[in-house]
Amino acid sequence: MSDKVLSQFKQEVVEEKKETGRKLKIGIIGTGWIAESHIQSYKLMEDVEVVAAADLIPGKAEKFMKRFGVEGVRFYPSHKELIDNEPDLDGVSVCTYNTQHAAPTIYALEHGIPVLLEKPFSVTLEEAEAICRAEKASGKFVSVGFQPRFDANMQMIKKIVDSGVLGKIYYIQTGGGRRRGIPGSTFIEKSTGGIGALGDIGCYSLDMVLNAIGYPKPLTVSGYISDFFGKNPKYNGADAARFSVDDFAAAFIRLEGGIILDFRIAWAMHVNTPGDTIIFGTEGALRIPSTDCWNGSVGGPMTLYHDVAGAHVDTVIPILQNTGKGGLFDKKIRSFLDAIKTNGPAPVPTSQILYNQAIIDGINKSAALGKEIEIEFHEI
Ligand SMILES: NC(=O)c1ccc[n+]([C@@H]2O[C@H](COP(=O)([O-])OP(=O)(O)OC[C@H]3O[C@@H](n4cnc5c(N)ncnc54)[C@H](O)[C@@H]3O)[C@@H](O)[C@H]2O)c1
Repeated sequence: MSDKVLSQFKQEVVEEKKETGRKLKIGIIGTGWIAESHIQSYKLMEDVEVVAAADLIPGKAEKFMKRFGVEGVRFYPSHKELIDNEPDLDGVSVCTYNTQHAAPTIYALEHGIPVLLEKPFSVTLEEAEAICRAEKASGKFVSVGFQPRFDANMQMIKKIVDSGVLGKIYYIQTGGGRRRGIPGSTFIEKSTGGIGALGDIGCYSLDMVLNAIGYPKPLTVSGYISDFFGKNPKYNGADAARFSVDDFAAAFIRLEGGIILDFRIAWAMHVNTPGDTIIFGTEGALRIPSTDCWNGSVGGPMTLYHDVAGAHVDTVIPILQNTGKGGLFDKKIRSFLDAIKTNGPAPVPTSQILYNQAIIDGINKSAALGKEIEIEFHEI
């Protein structure tokens, strides 16, 4: 991952000095792009050592650790060999592409190992439910890698909702997108990415608002997906030939509590932005410039619209600076390590992200059927 990409999450250099009896032993499964942020954060923590790494591509994990100057690591050809041969692991980072989220996570849990799983949770709702079942059976935890959760402005959205100043929330529009910004690599093929913009960046917009309002259960979805840009060589060059996921998704979702969620997300489109996130409440509304919220924070000051003594008042919420040690990626890793020490709770729990995944899955299912569907959850 380029320094430019990573630096947008960095506010300051981390230097953790937590009291520990011994160093936590961590394995990294999948040594591609996002694993770079994991290893860089682990390297900054004094109470952890990365002892094992696995990648399906021969030699990739070895080169990866060499590049980051990490020594003494044992290497394996897949998650199975790593977990079978490392009985003393305290946790694993699962940094595999989306279609390989469920298998390593479930295998780790079956061996009693807590997991930091990269976003999106999975490709389908059924996979997410299988992970939740394995988690329940294991008594260990899975935390999902949503680093924006650690941003002070993102946290402010929840604080504003929780304060009651918006009254009862009844409608939310959210989502985001880039005029052009289709990734390449493993993101764009069904066999590896599984889902496109919907899962890759859509999961962030959904998490931002659902977390703020307490993750109500999604009930129905009317969804749409398309791939007009990804499949067109005019917009996606040579990658168009192998593009087999969505590059745009939109949906109308009914949530428990009579809340309507209006969502759209794009890797590419012919407009600069699909609009800000707006949370409508009976006593006020909140506008969140957040069209690229996968970057970890809001895109500018938020505005709270409300009435004071009969007058319309617009209150601008100034941008907050993050405090504490480290950037958002470091905080994500730190929160995982701290949760290992207490065997949970997970900083970003699957009980919440199951609903995020249910919406993503519901959009795909509804789009395939061409009509609104009811979301069906199964026994965990
Ligand atoms: N949190 C973030 O900001 C962020 C940013 C980028 C990507 N991601 C997520 O991280 C995940 C990985 O993305 P990436 O860009 O690093 O992908 P990538 O293709 O660069 O790397 C994934 C690696 O996992 C390996 N792999 C797959 N299955 C494996 C298995 N069973 N055992 C061992 N190795 C296996 C692959 O060979 C590959 O090298 C995706 O789910 C993506 O959505 C998160």
